[in-house]
Amino acid sequence: MSDRDNTLRRRTFLGVVGAAGAATTVGCGAEPAMMTGPTDVGAATEWSARTWKLLCAQNLIVGRDDSGFYALSAVCTHQGCTLNMDSSACSTTMPGTLSATGALPRLSCPCHASTFNIQNGARVSGEAQRDLPAYKVTLTAGRVIVDRAVTVAGTARTAAT
Ligand code: FES
Repeated sequence: MSDRDNTLRRRTFLGVVGAAGAATTVGCGAEPAMMTGPTDVGAATEWSARTWKLLCAQNLIVGRDDSGFYALSAVCTHQGCTLNMDSSACSTTMPGTLSATGALPRLSCPCHASTFNIQNGARVSGEAQRDLPAYKVTLTAGRVIVDRAVTVAGTARTAAT
């Protein structure tokens, strides 16, 4: 067997191991497919001031506060379960409101109960040790575009026009 054959077999093996590893790190429950790159999540008019939506199918939280739009991953940083607003599995788009002064709702993980701040992705409690990633948001022709390839600070906002 040539060196080239050995290299190809090793690459194939590592590719299979890598794919299996990625599958096992998805974690608990049925995980929707991860989208990458720019994703159109809806018309900007769907978010009035101080509202958010948990988009289960896209694994995203998209909100609009007084400073503008933001997007957070809805995938728990512990073992990859999709977050929800309670301990149940995320199955439908869930809208909500942000309060300027009151207690904010927390995203919670149905697997091991980690919780996160819905306005900046900061870890609040539980097994997860990292904050949720925040993604770049742009407004294009009245549409909200979330780019998972570009992470930003959890406090970053895109001004509503
Ligand atoms: S997967 Fe979320 S707390 Fe374990």
